[in-house]
Amino acid sequence: MQGNLTSSFHLLASLGTLLPQFAVSADVHCRCFPGDACWPSRERWAAFNKTLGGKLVETIPLAAPCHDSRFGQYNAGECNTLQEAWTLPQTHYDSSSSIMAPFFANQSCDPFTGIQGRCILGTYNRYAVAVGSASDVSKALRFTERNNIRITIRNTGHDYNGKSAGAGSLGIWTHHLKDIQISDHRSRHYTGKAMKMGAGVQGFEAYAAAHQHGLVVLGGECPTVGLAGGYAQGGGHSTLGSKYGLAADQVLEWEVVDARGRHLTASRAKNSDLFWALSGGGGGTFGVVLSMTVKAHADMPTSGGNLSFTSDGISQDTFWKAIEAYHVSLPAIVDEGIMSVSAFSTSSFAISPMTGPGVSAERMNELLQPLTSTLDRLGIKYTKLVKQFPNYFEEFNTMFAPIQVGIAQYGGRLVPRSAVLNNNSAVTHAYRKIANDGGAFFIVGINVSTSVAGDVYNSINPAWRDTLLDTVVTTPWNFTAPWSQMVANANKMTDKFIPILKDISPGSGTYINEADFQDPDFKQDYYGVNYDRLLQIKQKYDPNHTFYALTAVGSDYWEARPDGRLCKSRRNA
Ligand SMILES: Cc1cc2nc3c(=O)[nH]c(=O)nc-3n(C[C@H](O)[C@H](O)[C@H](O)COP(=O)(O)OP(=O)(O)OC[C@H]3O[C@@H](n4cnc5c(N)ncnc54)[C@H](O)[C@@H]3O)c2cc1C
Ligand SMILES: *[C@@H]1O[C@H](CO)[C@@H](O)[C@H](O)[C@H]1NC(C)=O
Ligand SMILES: *[C@@H]1O[C@H](CO)[C@@H](O)[C@H](O)[C@H]1NC(C)=O
Ligand SMILES: *[C@@H]1O[C@H](CO)[C@@H](O)[C@H](O)[C@H]1NC(C)=O
Ligand SMILES: *[C@@H]1O[C@H](CO)[C@@H](O)[C@H](O)[C@H]1NC(C)=O
Ligand SMILES: *[C@@H]1O[C@H](CO)[C@@H](O)[C@H](O)[C@H]1NC(C)=O
Ligand SMILES: *[C@@H]1O[C@H](CO)[C@@H](O)[C@H](O)[C@H]1NC(C)=O
Ligand SMILES: *[C@@H]1O[C@H](CO)[C@@H](O)[C@H](O)[C@H]1NC(C)=O
Repeated sequence: MQGNLTSSFHLLASLGTLLPQFAVSADVHCRCFPGDACWPSRERWAAFNKTLGGKLVETIPLAAPCHDSRFGQYNAGECNTLQEAWTLPQTHYDSSSSIMAPFFANQSCDPFTGIQGRCILGTYNRYAVAVGSASDVSKALRFTERNNIRITIRNTGHDYNGKSAGAGSLGIWTHHLKDIQISDHRSRHYTGKAMKMGAGVQGFEAYAAAHQHGLVVLGGECPTVGLAGGYAQGGGHSTLGSKYGLAADQVLEWEVVDARGRHLTASRAKNSDLFWALSGGGGGTFGVVLSMTVKAHADMPTSGGNLSFTSDGISQDTFWKAIEAYHVSLPAIVDEGIMSVSAFSTSSFAISPMTGPGVSAERMNELLQPLTSTLDRLGIKYTKLVKQFPNYFEEFNTMFAPIQVGIAQYGGRLVPRSAVLNNNSAVTHAYRKIANDGGAFFIVGINVSTSVAGDVYNSINPAWRDTLLDTVVTTPWNFTAPWSQMVANANKMTDKFIPILKDISPGSGTYINEADFQDPDFKQDYYGVNYDRLLQIKQKYDPNHTFYALTAVGSDYWEARPDGRLCKSRRNA
C-alpha cells in the first residue's frame, strides 16, 4: 500500500478491514448492492421498465465479445474491431454504460486482458434509463429512493475521473435528449441569439446547427464531448474561450429535475441559487439537467494556426528556452481573443492549433513573430501554418485532429498569468522537471478574465479568471502493463507532479474536469471560495445526497468501498 490514494479503491480496501461494522451485507448505511437481499428482483425491474414504457436498459459490458463470460462467448472478429477502436470516443459514447477512463473501468470487462480475463459489471452501472422526459427522470428517482439504489448520471462517458460510472448503480442516461432550438433571447443580462439544447447534444451537433444559422456556440476541442453535462457544468474551455469566456459563462437557463423529482427552470431570475451552482460547480451532483440554453454568437472569419518542432539536434536547454519563449508570447496572443492549445514533452512541441475567431491570418502571423524570431535565433527548425477560413466551422473542422481516449491518466493546474510574467523560469523549470520524470503536457493558453466573460453570475472557480496556462499533465496508460504500474503513475501524479505545479501557482486552483482525483485538497483546489455555498445549495436541492460523484461537491458524505459499495461516511452513519 503506497502513496496517498485517499479516494481510490485501493486505500479503501484496507479501510474496509478497519471498519468491520460496514461488512454486513444489507447495511442501512449503505446503498443496496447487487446480491443483497434488498436488491430488486427481476420482476421488480421488469415492472419498473413497464412504467417507463420500455426505456430500461440492462447493462452488457461493451467488451463482452473479448471474453468467455456469462455475457457470451469470445468472438475474435468482434474483439479485434473493439480493440482497434477502443481509444476512439465514438466506441463508447453511444453505450449506456461504457466509460473512456480505463482506471475507473477497473478492468471490469477490458478488451485487452485476454479471453480468460474477467468480464463482470464491476464499476459499470447495472441498468440505465434512456430518459426522454422529466417524468422518466422523476420515476427513476422514485424507484431508486424506494429501493435505496445508487444513482449515476451518464451522458457520453468522457469524464476523465469516471464520474459517469458507478458500481451497483442505476444510470440516468441523457444521451437521447438531442433537441436543438435557436431563439431570440431577451433578459436583463443578455439580449441576442440563443441555443437551447437537450442534455444529450454533443459538440459536433451543436456546431453544425449553429453554423446553419450563421452562429457559433462554445464547446470542447473534442467535438464529441457532451455540452450540457459535465462540460458546461464543470466550466468548459473552448477554442472560443478567449473571446467569450468559459462555457458556463454562456448559460442563460438550465432545465433540471432535482432530487425531489421536481422539474425546475433555473436562471438568474428564477431559482438563481441552483443556476449559480450548476454553472461551474460540477456535473452529477446538483440535479439531472434536461436542457441548457446558451448564448449563440454571430459567426465570423476565423484563423487557425499551428507550429511544431522537435528536440532533434538541439540541446535540452535550447528546447526549453523555446517553450519559455512561447509562454512569453502568449499574453498578447490570448488578449487578442485567440485560444492556443500546445502539447509537449521532452522531445517535441506543437501548437495544435491556435484558434483566432475574428482574427486575420496577417494578425495571427504578427502575433507569432516574437516566437518565430526566437526560434530562428536559437537555430530551431519548425513547421508553421497559418490560415484564414471564412467561418469558425470550417476552421474547427480543418485544424483539429481527432482526439484519442484511454491513452493517459490526467492531472492539472490553473497557472496564472502572474507566474509567467514574474517568474517564467520557475514555470519552465517545473514543467521540465515533470517532463523529465515521464509527464507529458497539454496546455490551454487562454484569457477568460472577467472582462472577457462579461456580465455573468456563476460558481466558476475564481482562479480561472487569472489563468494563462490551463496546464494538463498526463502519464501514459498501457492496457497490458501490470495494474500496479498504473496505480504507481496515479500516485506519482498526486505525490510529485501536482505539488510541483502547486509550487508555481500558490493559491490558484484546478480545473474540475482535468484534475487529479486524489488531490487531498480538492475542495479548495477545484471549487475555491465557492465550496461552502455550493454545499449549502446541494443540501437544499438534494437533502438526502441522492447524487454522488467522485470529488463532486458533497461527495465526502459517502465513501466508496473497495467493491464499489457506497456507504455513508462514518461521521454521517
Ligand atoms: C477527448 C476529450 C476531450 C476533452 N476536451 C475538453 C475540452 O476541450 N474542454 C473542456 O473543458 N473539457 C474537455 N474534456 C473534459 C470534459 O469536459 C469532461 O470529460 C466532461 O465531464 C464531459 O462531460 P460529459 O457530460 O460529456 O461526460 P460524462 O462522462 O457522461 O459526464 C461527466 C459528468 O457530468 C455528469 N453529467 C452528465 N450529464 C449530466 C446531466 N444531464 N445532468 C447532470 N449531470 C450530468 C455526470 O454525472 C458526470 O459526473 C475532454 C474530455 C475528453 C475525454
Ligand atoms: C424494457 O422493455 C423493452 C421493451 O419491451 C425491452 O426491449 C427491454 O429489454 C426491457 N429492459 C429490460 C431491462 O428488461
Ligand atoms: C429523504 O429521506 C427521507 C427519509 O427516508 C424521505 O422521507 C424523503 O422523502 C427523502 N427526500 C428526498 C428528497 O429524497
Ligand atoms: C484579457 O483580455 C481582455 C480583453 O481583450 C483584456 O481586457 C484583459 O486585460 C486581458 N488580460 C487579462 C489578464 O485579463
Ligand atoms: C497543421 O494544420 C494542417 C491543416 O490542418 C495539417 O495538415 C498539419 O498536419 C498541421 N500540422 C501540425 C504540426 O499539427
Ligand atoms: C522564482 O521561483 C523560484 C522557485 O520557486 C524562487 O526560488 C525564486 O526566488 C523566484 N524568483 C523570483 C524573482 O520571484
Ligand atoms: C506496455 O506494457 C507491456 C507489458 O509490461 C510492455 O511489454 C509494452 O512494451 C508496454 N507498451 C508500451 C507502449 O510501453
Ligand atoms: C476493482 O478490481 C479489483 C480487482 O482487480 C477488485 O478487488 C475491486 O473490488 C474492484 N473495484 C470495484 C469498485 O469494482
